[in-house]
Amino acid sequence: MNFDGTVVGVELGERSYPIYIGAGILERLGEALQCRMQNAECRMQKEIQNPKSKIQNESHPSTLTTGRTVVVTDENVEKLYGERAEESLRAAGFESHRVSVAAGEASKRMEVVERVYERLFDLAVARSDTIVALGGGVVGDLAGFVAATFKRGVHYVQVPTTLLAMVDSSIGGKTGINHPQGKNMIGAFYQPGLVLADTATLATLPRRELGCGLAETVKHAVIRDAAFFAWLEANAAAILRPEAGVMTELVERNCRIKAAVVSADERESKLRGILNFGHTIGHTLETVLPERDYHHGEAVSLGMAAAGRIAVRRGMIGESDAERIARLLRAFGLPTAAREPLPADKLLTAMKQDKKVRAGRVQFVLPTRIGDCTFVEDLSEGEIRAAIESLYG
Ligand code: GLY
Repeated sequence: MNFDGTVVGVELGERSYPIYIGAGILERLGEALQCRMQNAECRMQKEIQNPKSKIQNESHPSTLTTGRTVVVTDENVEKLYGERAEESLRAAGFESHRVSVAAGEASKRMEVVERVYERLFDLAVARSDTIVALGGGVVGDLAGFVAATFKRGVHYVQVPTTLLAMVDSSIGGKTGINHPQGKNMIGAFYQPGLVLADTATLATLPRRELGCGLAETVKHAVIRDAAFFAWLEANAAAILRPEAGVMTELVERNCRIKAAVVSADERESKLRGILNFGHTIGHTLETVLPERDYHHGEAVSLGMAAAGRIAVRRGMIGESDAERIARLLRAFGLPTAAREPLPADKLLTAMKQDKKVRAGRVQFVLPTRIGDCTFVEDLSEGEIRAAIESLYG
């Protein structure tokens, strides 16, 4: 098979790793893992014809060693891609096992982590074995957290099958589960050995899930890349179909932005915080209003719309730029207004519990133009309240 795709590197010294992107590359999973384990100039990398790829001709330190693989997936993804992933692993010589959890955010909790640990103990998984996270953001965060903590850390790789996971959650080593006090409150930074994103899997993705990945895509464009933003506006119809070639380019452009930010600030001491654009209000909406059933990208979309309004009120961006951001979100079927009034007091209280609080002040990322942003920590409660209330009516 010719590998018609590209590689983006996450550069983190000896923990650097490649992100393979291409349509139909799931069947190369076993080979890609084998290559990483052998620390070799592998055929897969040599076949890549993309001159932009930083890691094309570099050898990478071996972070994976021989052993077995345990594919952690969910019941929906298992039916679609479980067998194909394991066939590829077995063809490359791995003894593969599978653990499946219920699909959905509810699986990101401690009881499910414990169930996965039990299965790993039953299989006598060793630190030299590899966990393969096959699925969307929930599976990636859960399996990554299990990998980070089981026997103080076993190898793992990310095989994202949703757009959200391909463009965001599979990259950068944030792993974790939820707590009743907030989303992703229990977790660890733990980098995978590689990421393999088969963009052909996007063809089976429900439209609402596609929208969630597009919210993170708009986020990346607004905070870092005006040309990408214009490209998204011009290609919105093809993206929504979704056309394979366009999606591969979209994933690649996202990965370049995310990889550059993570490479510069892995543990979010400052710069990585820009990836929280839209998330300060977004996370709070998800935590405080579970009955409204906002999907992550929908809550982030509302958060970006609110942040845009704060930036306009502060004179940081023009009304027309904020409207351009909102228009693109709506073009992707994402909400920029709430259907019912929002409980501002409850949301403000919850916001103070968030990880984005520094020295008691809620940190916001606000756009300064399309393609750039800044941190703001001196927002008054009144400004935040007004932005929340502006989302309704
Ligand atoms: N999704 C935000 C980050 O990875 O930092």
